[in-house]
Amino acid sequence: MNRTVIRGGLVVTAAEEVHADVLIEGEKVVALASFGSGVAEGWTADRVLDARGLYVIPGGVDAHTHMELPFGGTSASDTFETGTRAAAWGGTTTIVDFAVQSVGSSLREGLDTWHAKAQGACAIDYGFHMILADVTEHSLKEMDLLVAEGVTSFKLFMAYPGVFYSDDGKILRAMQRGADNGGLIMMHAENGIAIDVLVEQALAAGKTDPRYHGEVRRELLEAEATHRAIKLAQVAGSPLYVVHVSAASAVAELAAARRQGLSVFGETCPQYLFLSTDNLAESGADGFEGAKYVCSTPLRPREHQAELWKGLRTGDLQVVSTDHCPFCFSGQKELGRDDFSKIPNGLPGVENRMDLLHQAVVEGRISRRRWIEIACAAPARMFGLYPRKGTIAPGADADIVLYDPAATQTLSAATHHMNVDYSAYEGKEVTGKVRTVLSRGAVVIDDGAYLGRAGHGRYQPRATCQYLD
Ligand code: URP
Ligand code: ZN
Ligand code: ZN
Repeated sequence: MNRTVIRGGLVVTAAEEVHADVLIEGEKVVALASFGSGVAEGWTADRVLDARGLYVIPGGVDAHTHMELPFGGTSASDTFETGTRAAAWGGTTTIVDFAVQSVGSSLREGLDTWHAKAQGACAIDYGFHMILADVTEHSLKEMDLLVAEGVTSFKLFMAYPGVFYSDDGKILRAMQRGADNGGLIMMHAENGIAIDVLVEQALAAGKTDPRYHGEVRRELLEAEATHRAIKLAQVAGSPLYVVHVSAASAVAELAAARRQGLSVFGETCPQYLFLSTDNLAESGADGFEGAKYVCSTPLRPREHQAELWKGLRTGDLQVVSTDHCPFCFSGQKELGRDDFSKIPNGLPGVENRMDLLHQAVVEGRISRRRWIEIACAAPARMFGLYPRKGTIAPGADADIVLYDPAATQTLSAATHHMNVDYSAYEGKEVTGKVRTVLSRGAVVIDDGAYLGRAGHGRYQPRATCQYLD
């Protein structure tokens, strides 16, 4: 079996930082030996990777992506092939994407469709959550089957009436089922019924620019939906994971629930930590640049960022995922040129998450270990992939990144690998850069070269949520 040794780096996991060599056999980590122990001196290897001056970290786990998602009359511009390749470039070695149940169809049909899209296409490993768009007796029963086959989390929407929306009764039923079968309910918490009224009123008043997307999707309507989701989960006796939290008042709802001892978890995304309504209001030469920043939940005023960072430090928020859902400015975001409600919702970011969070380490917002916790270990535990993913330990998959903490780079659409014609972080300078990426022992990125292949990435059936253990 092929043996690789990573020598001389600082191994950083969520639990510890240790100067150690790492031995890989085939696809797995088999041993770590701290410097000075003498243990690594006896190791023979087919390949030695020099990690002196570098961090040796677990590959990132991005638990919220939407490759090829059909949305608003178009589809997310990254395929599983282009999106997972871009993820690898950015040091992410596992994604959990969302398979979609269409209204009137079964979960099975939706999941099979997403398997067909991803099969043979991915550069890195992948799993699926299931979007429950049509809660019926049949789909509730199907939830049990999906949990048994490793699709152990289900997203429901309190937003997007007529598309993905479920009313409170349907949500409660799905939560009760999740409480029984171990499936984790993930919630898009925005009051979509109220938002649609505000959208209609804004458009009738001639307010068609992208910035009105942020204005109608009021913070109060995120906080209200978050509160309601928490109460419904409490009634059902189920845990709850709230996705893409952007509002300070929604963080406060999660924090209050956690103080009551409820198993309530929250995810935020880099766009809410680094961008704000200032970006949404950008008009640019043609008055429409803000469309690049249309996503839901929406970007919030800058003041919210401090509360999100605080939540990540205190543990009231557990995970940072990207909600990667890219649409090109040209031809896709432009669908909403005369009507902000027709701008497809979503931002690119799967390639940028590890670097942006490392920048937060550089700026002193989070510690190195917290970086690995929120980007690797916590998403792996939350979604039943730990310790196969999310850490570096004997028995774990050899998904490992050699990360140069001193390299600098400027984020730009000119250099990124995502299949989208703009960067949400255009011109942002960050310190830290991926040097080498291993996915199950195979080098897929090395020193500015892509060495991977479509089809290397393997489907990962998942256990139920391990954050409750
Ligand atoms: O704007 C977003 N977030 N688009 C993707 C779909 C979703 O709600 O996560
Ligand atoms: Zn959502
Ligand atoms: Zn999403």
